[in-house]
Amino acid sequence: MNQKNQIIICMGSSCFSRGNRVNLELIKAWLSERKIEAEVGFKGQLCTGLCNKGPVLIINEHVYQEVHPANVINILKTAFSGAQV
Ligand code: FES
Repeated sequence: MNQKNQIIICMGSSCFSRGNRVNLELIKAWLSERKIEAEVGFKGQLCTGLCNKGPVLIINEHVYQEVHPANVINILKTAFSGAQV
């Protein structure tokens, strides 16, 4: 499979204020440290409709809920452990 990996971060006001504002910076730094920004599409989207389970992060179509700055890096490591990035 040669599809580009993709991270989508929910930028709706609930997710943004509850953690994704910080998660956004942590994810950008994580991609940058590994020099894989070019291989991973990273974009925001408006409310995902799961505000009560947020902050929401979607990696390669898998929806992660309650993603907080304390666990976002572990989620990235797990999600990309088998990926060709
Ligand atoms: S703001 Fe993220 S699910 Fe609603």
